[in-house]
Amino acid sequence: MSQLSQRPEKPVVGVSMPHESANLHVTGTALYTDDLVQRTKDVLHAYPVQVMKTHGRILELRTEPALAVPGVVRVLTVADVPGVNDAGMKHDEPLFPDMVMFHGHAVAWVLGETLEAARLGAAAVEVDLEELPSIVTLKEAIAAESFHGARPLMAIGDVDAGFADSAHVFSGEFQFSDQEHFYLETHAALAHIDEGGQLFIQSSTQHPSETQEIVAHVLGLHSHEVTVQCLRMGGGFGGKEMQPHGFAAIAALGAKLTGRPVRLRLNRTQDLTMSGKRHGFHANWKIGFDADGRIRALEATLTSDGGWSLDLSEPVTARALCHIDNTYWIPNARIAGRIAKTNKVSNTAFRGFGGPQGMLVIEDILGRVAPLLGLDPMELRERNFYQQGQTTPYGQPVLQPERIAAVWQQTLENGGVADRKREIAAFNAAHPHTKRALAVTGIKFGISFNLTAFNQAGALVLIYKDGSVLINHGGTEMGQGLHTKMLQVAATTLGIPLHKVRLAPTRTDKVPNTSATAASSGADLNGAAVKNACEQLRERLLQVAASQLGSNASDVRIVEGVARTLGSDKELAWDDLVHTAYFQRVQLSAAGYYRTEGLHWDAKSFQGSPFKYFSHGAAAAEVEVDGFTGAYRIRRVDIVQDVGDSLSPMIDIGQVEGGFVQGAGWLTLEDMRWDATDGPNRGRLLTQAASTYKLPSFSEMPEEFNVTLMENATEEGAVYGSKAVGEPPLMLAFSVREALRQAAAAFGPGGVSVELASPATPEAVFWAIEEARRGAASQDGPDARDEFAAVGQASNGQTTNGQARTDAAVLSGA
Ligand code: MTE
Ligand code: MOS
Repeated sequence: MSQLSQRPEKPVVGVSMPHESANLHVTGTALYTDDLVQRTKDVLHAYPVQVMKTHGRILELRTEPALAVPGVVRVLTVADVPGVNDAGMKHDEPLFPDMVMFHGHAVAWVLGETLEAARLGAAAVEVDLEELPSIVTLKEAIAAESFHGARPLMAIGDVDAGFADSAHVFSGEFQFSDQEHFYLETHAALAHIDEGGQLFIQSSTQHPSETQEIVAHVLGLHSHEVTVQCLRMGGGFGGKEMQPHGFAAIAALGAKLTGRPVRLRLNRTQDLTMSGKRHGFHANWKIGFDADGRIRALEATLTSDGGWSLDLSEPVTARALCHIDNTYWIPNARIAGRIAKTNKVSNTAFRGFGGPQGMLVIEDILGRVAPLLGLDPMELRERNFYQQGQTTPYGQPVLQPERIAAVWQQTLENGGVADRKREIAAFNAAHPHTKRALAVTGIKFGISFNLTAFNQAGALVLIYKDGSVLINHGGTEMGQGLHTKMLQVAATTLGIPLHKVRLAPTRTDKVPNTSATAASSGADLNGAAVKNACEQLRERLLQVAASQLGSNASDVRIVEGVARTLGSDKELAWDDLVHTAYFQRVQLSAAGYYRTEGLHWDAKSFQGSPFKYFSHGAAAAEVEVDGFTGAYRIRRVDIVQDVGDSLSPMIDIGQVEGGFVQGAGWLTLEDMRWDATDGPNRGRLLTQAASTYKLPSFSEMPEEFNVTLMENATEEGAVYGSKAVGEPPLMLAFSVREALRQAAAAFGPGGVSVELASPATPEAVFWAIEEARRGAASQDGPDARDEFAAVGQASNGQTTNGQARTDAAVLSGA
C-alpha cells in the first residue's frame, strides 16, 4: 500500500460524522460573507447599472443624474480603473464594458449609503446604446459560425475504417439545456482597505487565489497587497469558480476609491441574469456498431454555448470531449469541439464541468439506438464496458475497468433489478395508461484538473503549546464537507482526537497560489497537503516522545492522543508532549505541500493521461409515467458509488444524494428559457426566479432512495485510500432520463427508438409518449427541444411507420 493511502491505527478518517458546521447551518448562526455587513461600520452598498438590451455599443454613459440622488456616494466607471479593465483570465471580459454583450450586462456600478440609494442611483444612470443584431440560440450561432476559443479535436484509431466494418450505422442530432446553479447564497463580496492601502476582501469564491489575482490586476497592485478570505459559501457548484472575481474587484475598487468598506451582494434576479450557467450543448453524431452491438466508431461534433466571453468554456468543452466515452470502449473516434459565442451570460463551471454534457451525448445515443439494435438498453451498455488493457479516445489507459462492472453488478443486486423488471412488465401489461420502467446507467469520471499545474496544493498547520491544533489549507468550503474531511485527515495523521483540531477560514495570506476548489479534487489535493504538514510535525514530536519514553522514535506511536512505545507501558499524553517540545524549542508549525504525480496532458494533440484515476458508480432508477399528461414520479433509486475508502461516509453519502438530485433536476425539471423571438425582449432570460425555474425539492426526491458506497475500494493514489465524490454522482441521474425514455416507449409497439428532449419535463415526456404511440420516432430528425421553440415540434409531421424510420436510420455499411 502506498504511503499516501495507508491508514494508521484507529484513524479518524472513515468515521461517519456530521458536517463540521452542521449545527451552525441549521441554527442560522453560520456566517456567510454578506452576514459580515451587519458587523461592519460605514459600509457602502454597490448596485449594478444593468442594460436591458442584448447587444449594442455604448455611445454615452451619463452618471451625473445618479450623483444627484440622495445617498449616492460615487459611480464607478471604466475611468476609475487604475490597472487592467478585465474581470477574467482570458482578457475578453472587460469589467466595465464599452459593448453590451448580453441582456442585463452591468456597465457601471453605483455606491450608496444604503442599498436603496444605490438602487435609485443605478436607475438614474443614462446609457445611450447603438443596438446591434444579436445571436441568442446555439443554432443561430452555428448558422452564423459565431465561435470563440479553441477548436479541439480528439481522434483515435481509424474512424472511416471503423464505419466501414460496422454492421449498423446511425446518426443524429441532440441539443440539451443549460442549468442554473441556484446556490442559496448569491454572489457576494465585502472589501476593506487598511491604513497602508492593503485590501482585504471577503468573497464567496471557490478560487480565492484567482480572486486575489484579478483584484490585483484591476487595481494595479501586487498580489501581496491583496488578501482574499472565504469563510464558507452557501453553495458554489462551480458557479463561484470564476464568476466572483469581477464582483470582488468592484467592491475592492470602491473601497480603494472611497476608503470605506464596500459591500456587493447580488439579489436573486441579478444573480440569475448576470452570472454564467452550465453550458447547454448541441451535438451531431454518427455511430457504428458491429453485429453484436459493440461500438466500432463514433464521430461527433460537440458545440457548447459559451455565452459572450470565454471564462471556463475551453476547459469545460475539453472535459466534455474527454467524457463522451463514459464507461464504453470506443476504438475509433473523431470528436470535434467548439464553443459558440452568443449574446448571453458567460457560461461557466457547473458540477461535472462539461463531463455530464459529454456523457449525456453517448447515453442518449445508446438509449435511442438500443431498440433499433434489438437489444435491451442494459445489455447494450454492458456489452460496451471497458475491459482491461483498453484506453480512452485521448489515450489514457482505463486501469480499473473491473470497477465499472462491479458497481453495476452490485446495483443490480441491491435494487433487485431482475425481479423488478418482471414486475414492471406485468404492471405495464395490466395498465394501458400508466407505464413504469427501470433503467440502469453507470459512470466513469476522470479526477484531476486537465490543466496539470492546478494539481498542487498547500497547507499550514500550527500546533499551539497547549496541544491544540489549527489547520489552514487552500480549499474552500461550500457545503461539500471538505473542512470536515480535512479535520479528520489532520487528526488521523497526528494521532489525536478530532476535538483537538480546528480549522481556520480559507485565506490567501496563509497558503499562496492555491487552485480552485473544484474538479472534485479538494480533498485529494488539500488532504494530501494537510497530511504532509502533519507528518512533518509528527516526525518532530516522535523524536521528543522517544527521548521522554527512552526509546527509538521509530518505535513510538501516537494513537488517540497518547504516545506509547512498543513493548513498554510508559505513556505520554499529547498535551504534555507538545508542551515539552515547545520547551525543547522544537518548531510547532509546518507548511505542507502536495503535487499529483504521473499526470500529463497535451492540449494540442488532445492526448495524454490527464486524470489520476477514474471515479465509478452506477444507478438503477424506476419511474412511473402517466400517459395522459406525461407527469411522472421517481419510484425508487439504488446507487452504488466508488469513493475509494471513504474519508467521511456520512458526508460522502450526502454528496451522492445531493449530486444525484441536482443531476435529475438538470435532466428533468430545470427548464431554462431565453427569449429567442424578434420581440423587444429578445435575449432576455425568461426564467428569472424560482417561480418559473423549477428546482428539485423534497417532493421530487425518489420515493425510495438507497445509496451504498463500494466496499474494499482502496485507491492507492489518493489520501488515505479515498476517492473524490463531489461531482461524479450528478451523472448517475442519466438513469432517470433513460427510465423516462423507456417508460414512454412502453406506450408504443416496442422496437421503436424514442427521442426525449432534455430536460425531460412532463411536457417533453408527453411528446415522447406520442411518438412512441405512433411508433414513429426518428433517428435523423431534429431534437424535440429547439431552444425557445415549442417542445411539441418534433412530434409533428413524422411518419407513422416505426420500421420505415428505423430503416432510414440505418445508413451505409449496414
Ligand atoms: N456540495 C455542496 N453541498 N455544495 C456545493 O457547492 N459543489 C460541487 C461538489 N459538491 C458543491 C457540492 C462541485 S461543483 C465540486 S467541484 C465539489 O463539490 C468541490 O468540492 P471538493 O473538491 O471538495 O469535492
Ligand atoms: Mo466544480 S464544477 O469543478 O466547481
